[in-house]
Amino acid sequence: MAVVERALLGKGAAPGIRSFFDEATFTATHVVHDPATRRAVIIDPVLDFDPASGRTSHASADAVIAYVEQTGLAVEWLLETHVHADHLSAASYLRERFGARVAIGAQIRRVQDVFGGLFNEGAGFRRDGSQFDHVFEDGETFTIGEIEVAVLHVPGHTPADLAYVMGDAVFAGDTIFMPDFGTARADFPGGDARQLYRSIQRLLSLPGKARLFLCHDYKAPGRDAFAWETTIARQREANIHVHDGVSEDAFVTMRVARDRTLDMPRLILPSIQVNMRAGHLPEPEANGIRYLKLPLNVL
Ligand SMILES: [Fe+2]
Repeated sequence: MAVVERALLGKGAAPGIRSFFDEATFTATHVVHDPATRRAVIIDPVLDFDPASGRTSHASADAVIAYVEQTGLAVEWLLETHVHADHLSAASYLRERFGARVAIGAQIRRVQDVFGGLFNEGAGFRRDGSQFDHVFEDGETFTIGEIEVAVLHVPGHTPADLAYVMGDAVFAGDTIFMPDFGTARADFPGGDARQLYRSIQRLLSLPGKARLFLCHDYKAPGRDAFAWETTIARQREANIHVHDGVSEDAFVTMRVARDRTLDMPRLILPSIQVNMRAGHLPEPEANGIRYLKLPLNVL
């Protein structure tokens, strides 16, 4: 991957990275900036949500805002790695605050199609990705100040997953997790374990020195602290699901068996309804109140 090679050769700057970890949903939000120009992006911001009361709040997003203001960053993009099933996105809230653009992968249309059907959304719900300011195709590039960014389509967990390569840092979304935890599940609608293996191999073919930042962590047996940063080399050496030498067939057999044992994420139904709208809540009904649906016996 040319953009990573260039950064690792020292011709591009290494981005500054500050991560915020939400223990309620095990999600890492990364704020990435170019030290030379102070331009920045925010990857996978979290909107707090209490399903018992149906109340949203902004403590997590406000902590990110405080950091951005204290450090004088100019946020240009709010980047989603995919339509998350475990937390609501604060992209819409932060978009208002920073005037930044919200982006996701172009395959979002497939996700909107599947879940637009499942939630029986009417014609008012567009399935063309146009709720987002931009949708990225595989291989697209852009810059954060002087730092080059390349976008990789890495499907398998969902059809629309992206990884972002920014200088010497790779943001893997939900593909791979810490070496002692393994990989993301592949059993959501449109997920595919074989495709996930191939996407992960694409990431593992990047230079070993590249810093790798993950979207989630759940700790692991023998580890008491949350962690979300490792390297490509470390994954190839030690990832319990996909270290060097694990074949595609062996991975698929393991992944499919493991996924059968997993419960649905606690916030999957609210999360998808908000996140497939780029972090916007559904429109209010005639009484001025917004509602989320709870489809019965479909997942
Ligand atoms: Fe996910």
